Amino acid sequence: MKQRVFSGFRPTGKQHIGNYLGAIKNWLLLQDNYECVYCIVDIHALTTIESTESLQEDIHEMVLDWLAAGIDPQKSILFVQSHVPQVMELSTIFGMLTPLNWLLRVPTFKEKVKMQPQNVNYGLVGYPVLMAADIALYKGEVVPVGEDQLPHIELAREIVRRFNLHFGNVFPEPQGKLTSSPLIVGLDGIQKMSKSSNNHIEIISTPKEILQRVMTAVTDPARRYRSDTGHPDKCNVYSLHKVFSNLNTIEEISSDCRNARIGCVDCKKLLANNISNEFAPFREKRSILVSKPEYVREVLADGAKRAEAIAIRTMDEVQDSMKLLRRDIA
Ligand code: TRP
Repeated sequence: MKQRVFSGFRPTGKQHIGNYLGAIKNWLLLQDNYECVYCIVDIHALTTIESTESLQEDIHEMVLDWLAAGIDPQKSILFVQSHVPQVMELSTIFGMLTPLNWLLRVPTFKEKVKMQPQNVNYGLVGYPVLMAADIALYKGEVVPVGEDQLPHIELAREIVRRFNLHFGNVFPEPQGKLTSSPLIVGLDGIQKMSKSSNNHIEIISTPKEILQRVMTAVTDPARRYRSDTGHPDKCNVYSLHKVFSNLNTIEEISSDCRNARIGCVDCKKLLANNISNEFAPFREKRSILVSKPEYVREVLADGAKRAEAIAIRTMDEVQDSMKLLRRDIA
């Protein structure tokens, strides 16, 4: 029997190369060796969102990107969190098992309090409880995430352990699985690539758009003139070459930059070209999917059905083990 993978992603709309390398690419690789459940966590998004105006479109665009990148709905379950409302039920139950002080010391919570002091809502404190419910409802065993999510996984393990101790062995203890890709720094050369920092390149971009974006990238600040020698190790364009270019190019760029044989403009052109090539099959597949607007709906409806079947079984077990009075036998 294959182990079950569960992972969630906030609906952030069109995906960028940081999303692709940090999450999507790893998910693709897991599809053959695990039973994968991939969830768009729209309820989690509500803890920080100011307006839900673009929520539907963001979900749609994100799913198009995932499908075009190779998430295969025949192999994996792909669904929207709120389509299977049992997760809210399990989250409420887990809330009774979670001491408030565990939640108050979670690093992401403290960060969010600083970022949105005017909106420290109940859902924000409960974020990791809902996340534990996500994983447990689908009996996720392996959870691919970025490093920032590890405290949440640890909490999920503790909550599940408590439940099992009190009520019997219902849930597996989930294991975090760190993605192996390097951290992708944005075009500003400083912060992690993200849409909110506007330092990103969307994977749907045309070759021309990719070139335009790459041209804005910050390079080695010590290299001010074309004739200055550069320091590839201090240049984010070089870091991106390491991801998108072949070994020969990477070595050549490194030595040519150090000797001022190549300028930043040519180096960027080369990078833009390699990024474009990497995503050429993706762009083609996505353009076909876009012409079938019903397809995304069908994929999500089917995913929700399959996810719900698992959720119903788990909640039956939860109610039995907790000795809640079952309606069907009342
Ligand atoms: N908190 C995760 C993030 O911000 C998203 C998430 C929600 C998740 N539920 C999950 C990730 C369950 C893994 C498993 O990236």
